[in-house]
Amino acid sequence: MAEHAFALVDSTFTEFLTDDLLVKPAEQAWEKSDYYALRRAVFSQEQQLLAQDKDDKDFGALPIVAVAHHCGMPDQVIGAVRIYPSEPGLWYGGRLCVARAYRRHAMIGKALVNEAVSRALDLGCERFLATVQVVNEAWFHRLHWRSLDTLQLLGQPHVLMEAQLDAYPFMPRRVALSRARRHD
Ligand SMILES: CC(C)(COP(=O)(O)OP(=O)(O)OC[C@H]1O[C@@H](n2cnc3c(N)ncnc32)[C@H](O)[C@@H]1OP(=O)(O)O)[C@@H](O)C(=O)NCCC(=O)NCCS
Repeated sequence: MAEHAFALVDSTFTEFLTDDLLVKPAEQAWEKSDYYALRRAVFSQEQQLLAQDKDDKDFGALPIVAVAHHCGMPDQVIGAVRIYPSEPGLWYGGRLCVARAYRRHAMIGKALVNEAVSRALDLGCERFLATVQVVNEAWFHRLHWRSLDTLQLLGQPHVLMEAQLDAYPFMPRRVALSRARRHD
């Protein structure tokens, strides 16, 4: 068999990651089904935390997505988070996730948290809480959150955290994200 200097093996090709990304509430049917598919991929398959990722909170929750665009057209949901009120003024965020390939790519997680808290503020939020996996506690501190309590959830250590609302939004909303423009 002839030997080539340029073997075509899988590692020759890396996945194309677009920098044309938009964070916004899920509006289209395909965005909502992609949103649930991403949550399933992360929390049921990758982390194996939840056999069934959907729950009753989803009936009243607002889904927020990060949409990857290709050639200027919306193409794929690569980030997700949900927000919901538990009583007047008190809002919760949850199911925050970014598709594996897009993690640490272009502040997608930060932009999702920025939009989640800011959107809740628009809707009358006076307090915004989330139970966060312990490994992500330091990351949330950088996004203007403080820790309130520690707890066990789904057999994993979690921290109840609160967003400092006067710091939100800490980056522009509904903007195309790009690696060229980073905000902290
Ligand atoms: C947590 C998560 C949403 C972050 O999304 P992301 O798009 O990768 O994060 P961003 O690009 O906005 O931020 C990345 C930055 O945070 C840092 N960072 C990422 N995860 C971190 C962690 N767990 N602890 C501390 N810092 C972290 C990175 O080093 C990077 O720093 P830089 O901005 O100086 O380069 C993503 O890793 C994820 O989906 N994880 C799996 C699901 C999950 O754990 N969800 C959270 C449940 S509480």
